[in-house]
Amino acid sequence: MTTSAAAPLAPTERLLCGPGPTNVDPIALAAMQRPILGHLDPELQDILTEVVRMLRIVYRAPDGLVLPLQATGTSGMETGLVNLTQPGDTVIVGASGYFGRRLIEIAKRAGCDVVEVVEDWGVHVPNERLLAAAEEHPDAVLMAVVHGETSTGSLHPLAELGAAMKDSSTLLMADCVTTLGGTELDIGGWGIDYAYSCTQKCVGSAPGMSPIAVSEAAIERFDARRIPAPFAFDFNLLKKYWVDRPTVYHHTAPILHIYALYEVLRATLDEGVQERCARHVAAGTHLQERVRVAGMRLIAEPGHQLPQLSAIRVPDGVDGKAVASELLSEHGIEVGGGLPGAPPMWRIGLMGPNATTQTADRVLDALLGVMQRHGAAVSA
Ligand SMILES: Cc1ncc(COP(=O)(O)O)c(C=O)c1O
Repeated sequence: MTTSAAAPLAPTERLLCGPGPTNVDPIALAAMQRPILGHLDPELQDILTEVVRMLRIVYRAPDGLVLPLQATGTSGMETGLVNLTQPGDTVIVGASGYFGRRLIEIAKRAGCDVVEVVEDWGVHVPNERLLAAAEEHPDAVLMAVVHGETSTGSLHPLAELGAAMKDSSTLLMADCVTTLGGTELDIGGWGIDYAYSCTQKCVGSAPGMSPIAVSEAAIERFDARRIPAPFAFDFNLLKKYWVDRPTVYHHTAPILHIYALYEVLRATLDEGVQERCARHVAAGTHLQERVRVAGMRLIAEPGHQLPQLSAIRVPDGVDGKAVASELLSEHGIEVGGGLPGAPPMWRIGLMGPNATTQTADRVLDALLGVMQRHGAAVSA
């Protein structure tokens, strides 16, 4: 082992158009270079309060507890499952892709009896099947679905599920990792009891935080636990830091990430949540139309296509990995591939600052060019 220092850090500038992270909004990067405050500084407390206030607006969650966890999307997922269930509880999970399956895996690890309502890659789990499972298992404490399944580009009809579950004692949990900031949400109006997200996709900040929204009913359920929740993600302990004043130490907050989140939330409200979501729709539908015109197929079923994530089936005879690797080495463009168990695909994300029709054209022009060199019969 050599003992000299490594070379200075010099990462290459890429256009990140995979499933996330996306390129960080320059205002978030600039925010991370501002002077750091201590995690209990009164000035920081005002920043925390503003972050919570702005997050409530973007989530449309006027009640309950809203804050960003000091962790990634997966921790938001795990926090919901372990805080709102106890070993032996029945949980219903809808899964038609990689992240739905991750929900199942984490619920099992938490000791729950999992009712798996599964569909094939790209086919959303119909609400009728979930509601039938809820009727069959009235003792289920929680139902969990993925709003935007990033592994396939499939969008779940969440508002309709929320409406149908309104009078149920089963809590409803939604993975909004890919939808927050890119698809209009109404967490309060739809009756979602626990939503979690991330900061590195449509929100346009750096990876590392997981905004959550917890309903009053979910907090009541949490308060009635027989056994304490894990300390680091205990809703009540987090509330003492993020919401109650004076603030109480719980963990040393990722202050620079909080600055970055503050700035992108501010920019989101300046742009308008609706307008920002419309921008994601315009960019995504433009790309998807061009994909169809080029003679390629999308993985997600029509009518349930996420705008911000397009999963494109790799045409027969084309080496999808080689094409993605050339896109990166020759054009500096990152796109995603298929996750384990999925059919061969490229996943193109147009999220946050990259949700523009110009970026859509840049990625697709480059992709079609590389594909043609690989002998694919696509029309540009
Ligand atoms: C739908 C969905 N859920 C959960 C996750 C996990 O988030 P993270 O990678 O930030 O832990 C991702 C990540 O891409 C995702 O797309």
